[in-house]
Amino acid sequence: MAIQVVILAAGQGTRLHSNIPKVLHQLAGKPLLRYVLDAAFALPTERKPLVVVGHQHERIRHTFADDPLIFVEQEQQLGTAHAVLQTLAHIDPDDDVLILYGDVPLINTQTLRQLTMHKPEGICLLTALFANPQGYGRIKRDAQQRVISIIEEKDANDAERALKEINSGVYFLNAALLKRWLPQIQKHNAQTEFYLTDIIKQANQEQIQITTLIADEQEVSGVNDRIQLALLERHLQLQRAHNLMRAGVTLLDPARIDIRGELHVGKDVTIDVNVIIAGDVSIGDGCSIGPHSYLRNTVLGRNVEVKAHSLLDGVEVAADCIIGPFARLRPGCVLAEGVHVGNFVEVKNSAVGSQTKINHLSYIGDSEIGARVNVGAGTITCNYDGVNKHKTIIGDDTFIGSDTQLVAPVTVGARATIGAGSTIIKDAAADCLTLTHRIEQRSIPAWQRPKVKED
Ligand code: UD1
Ligand code: CA
Repeated sequence: MAIQVVILAAGQGTRLHSNIPKVLHQLAGKPLLRYVLDAAFALPTERKPLVVVGHQHERIRHTFADDPLIFVEQEQQLGTAHAVLQTLAHIDPDDDVLILYGDVPLINTQTLRQLTMHKPEGICLLTALFANPQGYGRIKRDAQQRVISIIEEKDANDAERALKEINSGVYFLNAALLKRWLPQIQKHNAQTEFYLTDIIKQANQEQIQITTLIADEQEVSGVNDRIQLALLERHLQLQRAHNLMRAGVTLLDPARIDIRGELHVGKDVTIDVNVIIAGDVSIGDGCSIGPHSYLRNTVLGRNVEVKAHSLLDGVEVAADCIIGPFARLRPGCVLAEGVHVGNFVEVKNSAVGSQTKINHLSYIGDSEIGARVNVGAGTITCNYDGVNKHKTIIGDDTFIGSDTQLVAPVTVGARATIGAGSTIIKDAAADCLTLTHRIEQRSIPAWQRPKVKED
């Protein structure tokens, strides 16, 4: 005997009006179904979850190809009871079955543990009290508070629609009951679908015990349309913002941060408004992140200052660096301690030595730059010949004059100086001033600028 999780994910999600199947729509950067799977994987059972797929099932199988799952196909989506019916052949009759809906993403493992802790006497349901229960199946109870049935919104009369207790779609019961009941379910209802919720009526007919556990609203909120998806996104983001603040982060506005991945933070980190975190990001003690910045798969050491409107993707930044405003650091950048990367500077796949400054309007690609280098405004590494990428190597303590083009492959030796406006096509020797041919400068005295003619 074990717990067998069954997850329903075959529906199209008509109300999303989408070419993407519903459970692949993203919440905080991850597909809805990912959340349900993670909650399921945390349960103490050796059984692989059975996932019912139908609409665009190849896409769903492909997305979760590396997860320990068994996919079961429901060719036609004839209703939630019909979906579970497809899994029966895979279920050991002695198992207890936990049914989850793939479009209820924030279901909590703790709640599921609580629900599944005891062998179910009969059937155990997870419900919730909603201020606005619209769209959900309503839990109907008798005078003794015993659950009589679940009524779908479309089948409900006015009195039933006024009920605030809703069906979450999470059920826990013995497989034998499912095997007995599911084949008997009819589709005599407003949607002519086989409703899984009809198992409650069957339980009552057989006088089988029905118990309920009440969850909180967001945890069991379903996603049927984009409004519900957006509401849940805001809820989840606010929850994450609160967790960050509890961990000691200053958020200038907890309602204006989006964490679409994992964020690890040190002490005394300050994050200004409209910052987006994606993938795996780690921010060291004392860092500050300016407004409208985007950090993805990035590690920041201690006391890094990221100023407004900067974009860091796939970057390692050591302590005491200053980045931005308006800097773009692309994958493969490794900045040593105390580097400054200023406005309108793009750096890609480059290692930059400590205390080096690239402060204005530059493109640095496929480069190795030493320590204490000053890269003047408008410096460009010409790293691409149209076919191949080439490397630029700049030694320690060099000074690259403004508006220099470094045509790679090229090396600038340590302590070299490059005159402003040079096009460096050969290696520049260490300790020398290197500059390219300059056009003679002349002045025409008493020059009269053209004037606007008066009529
Ligand atoms: C369902 C419940 C409702 C509950 C609500 C909770 C039924 C009849 N209704 O309504 O009582 O309050 O969820 O969110 O169960 N699916 C399949 N195959 C199908 C049909 C659906 O796999 O043939 C899957 C869907 O992909 C979805 C889940 O089952 O993940 C629920 O289906 P959905 O159509 O969203 O049901 P609701 O109308 O939300
Ligand atoms: Ca739903």
